[in-house]
Amino acid sequence: MEKIIDLISGEMKESFKKSGYDEKYGMVSVSNRPDLCEFQCNGALAAAKAYKKAPIMIANEIIEVIKESKVVKNVVAVNPGFINFDINDDYLASYVTKMLNDENLGVEKVKEPKTVVIDYGGANVAKPLHVGHLRSAIIGESIRRVNNYMGNKVIGDAHLGDWGLQMGLIITELKKRQPDLVYFDDSYEGEYPEEAPFTMADLEEIYPCANAYSKEHPEYKEEAQNATYLLQSGKRGYMALWHHIINVSVNDLKRIYGSLMVDFDLWKKESDAQPYIPDMVKYMKDEGYAYISEGALVVDVKEETDTKEMPPCMILKSDGATLYNTTDLATIVERVKLFNPDDIKYVVDKRQSLYFEQVFRCARKTKLVEDKVDLEFLGFGTMNGKDGKPFKTRDGGVMRLEYLIKEINEAVYNKVMANRDMDEETARDISKKVGLAALKYGDLSNQASKDYIFDIDRFTSFEGNTGPYILYTIVRINSIISKDAAKNGTKYDDKITGSYSKSESELMLSLTHFNETIYNAYEENAPHRICQFIYEVSDSFNRFYHENRIVDEADVEKRASRINLIKLTSKVLSVCIDLLGFEAPERM
Ligand code: ARG
Repeated sequence: MEKIIDLISGEMKESFKKSGYDEKYGMVSVSNRPDLCEFQCNGALAAAKAYKKAPIMIANEIIEVIKESKVVKNVVAVNPGFINFDINDDYLASYVTKMLNDENLGVEKVKEPKTVVIDYGGANVAKPLHVGHLRSAIIGESIRRVNNYMGNKVIGDAHLGDWGLQMGLIITELKKRQPDLVYFDDSYEGEYPEEAPFTMADLEEIYPCANAYSKEHPEYKEEAQNATYLLQSGKRGYMALWHHIINVSVNDLKRIYGSLMVDFDLWKKESDAQPYIPDMVKYMKDEGYAYISEGALVVDVKEETDTKEMPPCMILKSDGATLYNTTDLATIVERVKLFNPDDIKYVVDKRQSLYFEQVFRCARKTKLVEDKVDLEFLGFGTMNGKDGKPFKTRDGGVMRLEYLIKEINEAVYNKVMANRDMDEETARDISKKVGLAALKYGDLSNQASKDYIFDIDRFTSFEGNTGPYILYTIVRINSIISKDAAKNGTKYDDKITGSYSKSESELMLSLTHFNETIYNAYEENAPHRICQFIYEVSDSFNRFYHENRIVDEADVEKRASRINLIKLTSKVLSVCIDLLGFEAPERM
């Protein structure tokens, strides 16, 4: 369906044309004075200059024409030349009825679907998932869902970090603790055990311990670097240990991502790109893109227009070791080969923006991707604590994601239990769903690139601009619909016949912005647009609910229209929260 604002603009343009003016002056916008009118057109002011007439004269001519249109009502010309108006009730009712009867609620899918790879995992194997990875997961998942909804072919990739020094550190620490393990016996030629010699809990202890120790002891760090090098060169015992580390921790990561309702189509890892490196390096050298500088192999990525320092992109270190850059470039090669994408989006901490600028420039300059491929860095800001500093646990440590989720669920559980008594299992289930909504909405309602303050009390509140408030609204609507079915049991036609009160037309009007919101969220990779929209819809609904009879409305036609209106509201809200990546419980 066409956006409501475009339909109205179309009508206004027609009126300008009919009155002898260029139709471009007929642009309409949502009024910034909703107390005066719903929409406005300021075109008469601009036209006045071109046609050398007083703007109010033009505005008056236009309203004489547009008054006849069935799309608008209450049209007035206001000095010096504004045209203010509202949308016609019947027209509005027919628009929302169409939405109700459209399987996509009025959203048109993209005409030519694109293949889009989204990189929004980035968790590091063997290191506990921490809140730093939370935003990638939450924002990326929503962008993935929106792209799917719009009809694109989407490949969400976890791109786990499994190829860095952390592996060497763990191997070194294991060797120190259990030197007799068969993995460290260079003369061993048999099969290695299937069972890992450690659990996830062990790994969670081993990595931080090794990391801390290496900071104080250079010789230990050197050993870890060497172990990393040996692993990357394919040393058998180390490879076997590395496989164990991956298996143990990927299972754990899958469980945690699952509890966040975050899904990946692909569980690729940095190591999967390694086979592409030798050919890529050779190609860059052969084509003359890469050259040796101070022993390292680099590609210049400076451009004349640069105002900031742009260091060259390093491909190989002087000892031949590969870097984070090398892996990201090789991953581009891999993605192009496997999926031939139109677009690759990276949902990563914005502090990596310079790094990605280098990688993208290098990929373009060396023609790893065709010009038409979009490489997009969607950098997000930091999640801060109430003190405005990066989020920490109470004792100042890095917050583990799992604890954070638990803490939120607990806060919600206490609220759920405080208000009514229900059995433990139901309360836990509700708390999980509401907790996830609190966490995700708290994050997504902010423009992604901005830092935000993580505030459990605010996020879990059932009032205000929060996830629980939205869920509460959905639950309320659904319970009214059930109540109506139980009490009246009327079979209604799927029709919204008209708006019978101001709060009713306000609710309708806010629902009409659904398709526009989804297009914007899609084009701008901006889930916060959806949050803004559902908050407005929820507010409109609650106002409508307080001011109007629904189940008790005696006039059947009115009641039918209202039930249909709230059905549409529930559908729209449900699609939106699904696009944000959370779901509503049956009751709260
Ligand atoms: N593993 C990285 C980290 O923890 C994030 C990876 C982001 N994605 C990428 N393609 N570089 O910082």
